[in-house]
Amino acid sequence: MRPKVTVVGAGNVGASVAQYTVERELADVVLVDIVEGLPQGKALDLLQTGPIHRYDARLSGSNEYNPTAGSDIVVITAGLARKPGMTRDDLLFKNAEIVGAVVDQVAPRSPNAILIVVSNPLDAMTYLTWKRSGFPKERVVGMAGILDSARFRTFIAMELEVSVENVSAFVLGGHGDTMVPLPRYSTVAGIPITELLRKERIDAIVQRTRDGGAEIVNLLKTGGAFYAPGAAVTEMIEAILKDKKKILPCCAHLNGEYGVKGLFVGVPVKLGRGGIEQIIEISLTPEEQTALDKSAAAVRELVEKLKL
Ligand code: NAI
Ligand code: 2OP
Repeated sequence: MRPKVTVVGAGNVGASVAQYTVERELADVVLVDIVEGLPQGKALDLLQTGPIHRYDARLSGSNEYNPTAGSDIVVITAGLARKPGMTRDDLLFKNAEIVGAVVDQVAPRSPNAILIVVSNPLDAMTYLTWKRSGFPKERVVGMAGILDSARFRTFIAMELEVSVENVSAFVLGGHGDTMVPLPRYSTVAGIPITELLRKERIDAIVQRTRDGGAEIVNLLKTGGAFYAPGAAVTEMIEAILKDKKKILPCCAHLNGEYGVKGLFVGVPVKLGRGGIEQIIEISLTPEEQTALDKSAAAVRELVEKLKL
């Protein structure tokens, strides 16, 4: 029997996750959304892609949660993206309501699942999901660092005109303006980029990475990025279902690591069948630690507003 992945929110990111997951034959997928017909229609369309792209997977869509029962992984993409005129707080409270309601439905039906959170503001929504589900911290994880690092890697590869496959990069901290790209730990074929690029170029690439989500929203105008976010979530699904024990930057519960206690923030973790199997601690310079502290403080401020 194939593993089962539920994706809640059959919008842009949710549909990309479903597509990449079945294309790689990682799992059967249940799509759930509040909009009638949307998850059913997208699931059927992807099912009919199978004969052409040569994958076998069961896909179904639903407006209720019984078909999600017994999922190995539940991905939460339900929620609003920021629109003109909306404050950050508007998004926080509206998405908290949506994500909280989703967790109440999925957690009792899939008590052994690993929950992957995507909805924004990411770090606060991951915290809320952990609290509301009552799941152990190892089984609640947020997606952001893989996406932010992929953006950083893309810009480094463009700058140096090398294959993206040669580029590794790490971004720590919250998924927001205060995220902390780490040039010292970002390498091309093992060589730190600090040896290959001038400081002004690195600073410009770091800033473009921080603004990576907004750059795409400004281009698309009606929504945010979804191909790379979908791919990032699928890398997490694969690492978990295949028990790869892959080191990936993910939003994880910290209990003193990196000097952060009782918050979900982006750090390198080992991801396997047990979920977050280890938090990897790397040494930071005082400047890097200060930037991470600032990022964690911004996450804490949002979480405190939720009064959980
Ligand atoms: P979208 O608008 O295309 O899809 C969201 C879907 O959620 C819609 O189909 C909507 O009907 C559904 N939905 C709303 N309320 C629901 C409920 N109560 N139950 C079930 N479904 C519900 O948005 P998109 O682009 O897919 O983004 C989804 C979320 O993911 C947003 O909050 C966005 O900001 C966030 N995001 C986070 C990223 C990250 O790096 N963590 C990257 C990209 C997006
Ligand atoms: C992104 O970074 C909007 O969080 C989303 O693309």
